[in-house]
Amino acid sequence: MNPASAFVNWADGALQVPGLQRSEKKLGQLTGIFRDHQAWQKLDPETIVYRVWWWEPVVPGTEGGLFWGLTEIQPGRVGNEYFMTRGHWHVIRNRAEFYVTVTGSGKLLLTDRTGRTWAEDMTPGSLHYVAGEVAHRIVNTGDMPIRVTACWPSDAGHDYEVNEGRGFGARILEEQGSPILVPAQD
Ligand code: PA5
Ligand code: NI
Repeated sequence: MNPASAFVNWADGALQVPGLQRSEKKLGQLTGIFRDHQAWQKLDPETIVYRVWWWEPVVPGTEGGLFWGLTEIQPGRVGNEYFMTRGHWHVIRNRAEFYVTVTGSGKLLLTDRTGRTWAEDMTPGSLHYVAGEVAHRIVNTGDMPIRVTACWPSDAGHDYEVNEGRGFGARILEEQGSPILVPAQD
């Protein structure tokens, strides 16, 4: 048997693997994602909102394979809306995904094809099955980074059209120090 060449640090979700992929999203790249456009324009566009590290043991698009990743979202808000990922459907709509919260706290915002929208509490150890046909977005409602491990099919793909169309159907906003789910008016 060959020794394993990939490791997860379960304390913080960090990945150690040859060929690890990474990306980061700054506020300036998240055009049209947050509700309060004026508040967004006043913030430093260089502010990092989230980073993703992931491992592709097979070529993207491979049917039957899996990818493994870690997302870290910084604490912060645009107006009264918490920092969050862009959110997406999978290109192959029926592809599901697992999320596990490693550190921090937040909400997993989910919207199905009929527009029904709901949120699941994310807290260390919470395990989330994101079914196929459900758009998903992670929202950091805490005051420290939230780190979330994910596992998804290598042919799922990411479709960000959810942000162009009807959107997620709801937003997670801060009100009197607590997160609330507010139906989207935009
Ligand atoms: O595959 C996933 O669902 C995650 O790895 C996300 O891509 C990650 O959390 C970043 O979110 P988004 O792709 O919506 O920008
Ligand atoms: Ni996904």
